[in-house]
Amino acid sequence: MQIDSGIRSILKAPIVYSTWQSVLGAKRKRNILRDDYIRPFDGMRIFDIGCGPADILNHLEDVKYLGADFSEAYISEAKNKYGDKGEFFVGSADALPPRDEKFDLVMALGLLHHLEDAECIALFETAKRQLVSKGRVITFDGVFTENQSSAARFFLNKDRGQNVRFADGYTKLAKQAFGDENVKFYVRTDLINIPYAHIIMECTVA
Ligand SMILES: C[S@@+](CC[C@H](N)C(=O)[O-])C[C@H]1O[C@@H](n2cnc3c(N)ncnc32)[C@H](O)[C@@H]1O
Repeated sequence: MQIDSGIRSILKAPIVYSTWQSVLGAKRKRNILRDDYIRPFDGMRIFDIGCGPADILNHLEDVKYLGADFSEAYISEAKNKYGDKGEFFVGSADALPPRDEKFDLVMALGLLHHLEDAECIALFETAKRQLVSKGRVITFDGVFTENQSSAARFFLNKDRGQNVRFADGYTKLAKQAFGDENVKFYVRTDLINIPYAHIIMECTVA
């Protein structure tokens, strides 16, 4: 579930969302995500679910990119900005139509904390079906940790996504689809310019 009322409603405008991300340090964060977790190679087939305005494409070259998001405004902006670098469609994460092609990587960057548990499991099952053997899912979300600063807790609680979890709340969902041994996770507190904690999960098709 996503809160789009009050002050958070302005983030529905793609330009406001992209600018806010820049203020938080998105350029550096996305470079780290690319180098440490996405690890792109020439021709890599990427399906980005919850792609937003698809600004990750500023950081990726020579990949075959497909983006989906349930926001028509974000998809329209993605097409305007990056129409020559990828394809985009409007779709909800828990009800994506099956596709003929397979992908090397499915990404859900900043998405799981917007979704209920059942929607996350549906997303992981969809991703698994669309991946090649040894293909991967990368997720990236805010995370609660024990003994977290009150500033970090404040910012996490202000997120539009209403399902920020502790690490085991995220990993148990991924493990249902991928199995215990195929889900790795990393908690980082160094990715943006405010006190925060993120979890990156990497799930591999056995
Ligand atoms: C925090 S933004 C992340 C956008 C982008 N991945 C990025 O890293 O900048 C979360 C995105 O998930 C999308 N979203 C939320 N719930 C969704 C759902 N059920 N299906 C598809 N997209 C969803 C929102 O529209 C928004 O673009």
